Amino acid sequence: MTRHFLVDTDLSPAEQAEVLELAAQLKKAPYSKNTFAGDGSGSQTVAVIFDKTSTRTRVSFAAGVAALGGNPLIINPGEAQIGHKESVADTAKVLERMVSTIVWRTYTQSGLEEMAANSRVPVINALSDDYHPCQLLADLLTIKEHKGELAGLTMTYMGDSANNMANSYLLAGVTAGMHVRITGPAGYLPADAVVLAARERAALTGGSVLITTDVAQAVAGADVLVTDTWVSMGQEEEKAARMELFTDYALDDAALAQASPDAIVLHCLPAYRGYEISASVIDGPQSVVWDEAENRLHAQKALMVWLVENSAVESPAVEH
Ligand code: CP
Ligand code: NVA
Repeated sequence: MTRHFLVDTDLSPAEQAEVLELAAQLKKAPYSKNTFAGDGSGSQTVAVIFDKTSTRTRVSFAAGVAALGGNPLIINPGEAQIGHKESVADTAKVLERMVSTIVWRTYTQSGLEEMAANSRVPVINALSDDYHPCQLLADLLTIKEHKGELAGLTMTYMGDSANNMANSYLLAGVTAGMHVRITGPAGYLPADAVVLAARERAALTGGSVLITTDVAQAVAGADVLVTDTWVSMGQEEEKAARMELFTDYALDDAALAQASPDAIVLHCLPAYRGYEISASVIDGPQSVVWDEAENRLHAQKALMVWLVENSAVESPAVEH
């Protein structure tokens, strides 16, 4: 069976721990895996397709594939036929014959599901409107580096809690056995289906879920504070309204003061200082955002290696 990574819960708790352990090993020994080196068992190329803009995801996948002995084929927004001239399914059936893995940043989760359903090589979600699971692997690696064991830690996400990052913090956090608190204004909280999936996962791991509009309740004593932009890609037309909506949920000095004294602060970046996070917090001593950004590289290398090694099929690119 081909393994894909479209949503955080595609990895079981044990599998997520394996990927994070492999990421830590690859961080220490960056060239210790040659997964895409072209030993005859698969294509050297990994397709990395962007329907939205990117800095970290683009560079970390490009550098990561190269470090694994492969060739990253970066396809920028609007450059391929996919989406306007050709269906996702047809695109998948072509790509699987030429590449070892498909990485895709796009809008709809259903598009990613269609790509995966038609691909015998792993498909990785590099951000959709609903989830950003690669970012969470990097975030968990970062938290582990700074705090040790993930299970039992309290992580609070504040701000636009109906977006991809909120959903992924919730699902990946409870998968790691964390107590995840999500706070935002009414109407901008995770959808019921995501909360239900998180509660089911938490029941397996000893984690827990708190969804609240009460910011003080959410941040009190937290070990990890996180936030994200109030205007995600694709929401630019709502920018003016959104800048007003979330002002009570900013990650500022007042919020940080209510967390644990040794709390750490993460932000997936790009950040908008003075809006979802204050400059004093993101540039302050409790911020670990640069470690977090670097860890995109190590976490995604581990993910790619793990998916290829755990997918039973050989790449169709070598079939005759
Ligand atoms: N955090 C993140 O995914 O950044 P990019 O949008 O720059 O890839
Ligand atoms: N929520 C943001 C994350 C950017 C990495 C967006 O989707 O634009």
